[in-house]
Amino acid sequence: MNTNNDSSRQPLPSLTGGAGSGSLIDGKATAAAIKAEIAEEVKKIVEMGGKRPHLAAILVGHDGGSETYVKNKVLACEACGFQSTLLRFEDDITEAELLATVDRLNRDADIDGFIVQLPLPKHIDEQKVIEAIDYRKDVDGFHPINVGRVAIGLPAFISATPKGILELLRRYNVETKGKKCVILGRSNIVGKPMSQLMMQKGVDATVTVCHSRSTTLREECLQADIIIAAIGQPAFLKGDMVKPGVVVIDVGTTRVPDATRKTGYRLQGDVDFDAVAPKASLITPVPGGVGPMTICMLMQNTLSAGKHEYYA
Ligand code: GUN
Repeated sequence: MNTNNDSSRQPLPSLTGGAGSGSLIDGKATAAAIKAEIAEEVKKIVEMGGKRPHLAAILVGHDGGSETYVKNKVLACEACGFQSTLLRFEDDITEAELLATVDRLNRDADIDGFIVQLPLPKHIDEQKVIEAIDYRKDVDGFHPINVGRVAIGLPAFISATPKGILELLRRYNVETKGKKCVILGRSNIVGKPMSQLMMQKGVDATVTVCHSRSTTLREECLQADIIIAAIGQPAFLKGDMVKPGVVVIDVGTTRVPDATRKTGYRLQGDVDFDAVAPKASLITPVPGGVGPMTICMLMQNTLSAGKHEYYA
């Protein structure tokens, strides 16, 4: 995919204009457009006699959130023209059995990339499983080799959520050069890789990472041009914590009880949307913001794995 394709950019504002209009960043539409681009490329690859990308997913147990994520990943594979394989295990699978499955997928030449859906049951060492994955098939970008290569600016699989956020900022023409970006949260999956990507050459933001022990979080947020909230606390970022014109990216997806919904819950982001949106120039909704982009970036990583874009 040509990531410099200017036709992919939306005609949207910079960070300089005073009070915000609260324009929505439409992750759902952006993800749909990217999936269509991927499907087009896959079609050409297959027409030319190339191999259809093949993603495998390992799902352990019956966690509701994980079931939904994996189902959506399989559906996204279909939309992109990929082959997909879902390997399901009960949550009494032993660590040794899971590691043997990872090893089998590592050696299966037909599998271009695979993921082990997290969280895993308590008796399994997640880090051990992540490190058992062949980094050349690690389309989640969780293996220390990929994490390290991203940190020093080498081509590698980038963790899907931060990669999706960067893509949204790019497609919505958000100026990042020299801007102050505050990241709320320091997780291995979002906060840490996000901070690496935002400070990278070409993105050029000045980055501050705040977390549960930060004492100046509010002051930092008030100065931020871009806030990426990935702290896992529903409606944490309030209207009086942001300056006018801020760009807000909400990574939170906490299920909160809601009797008016058929499911009995709704997804609540880390941002108090109704209070923050009027001050923001751009803001992602929950759902429909970062979420769809995350799965879409997993598809992009799988396509890159199939093309051996990063590793031989
Ligand atoms: N659990 C929550 N997010 C993710 C993800 O991006 N990848 C995997 N493998 N598990 C997750």
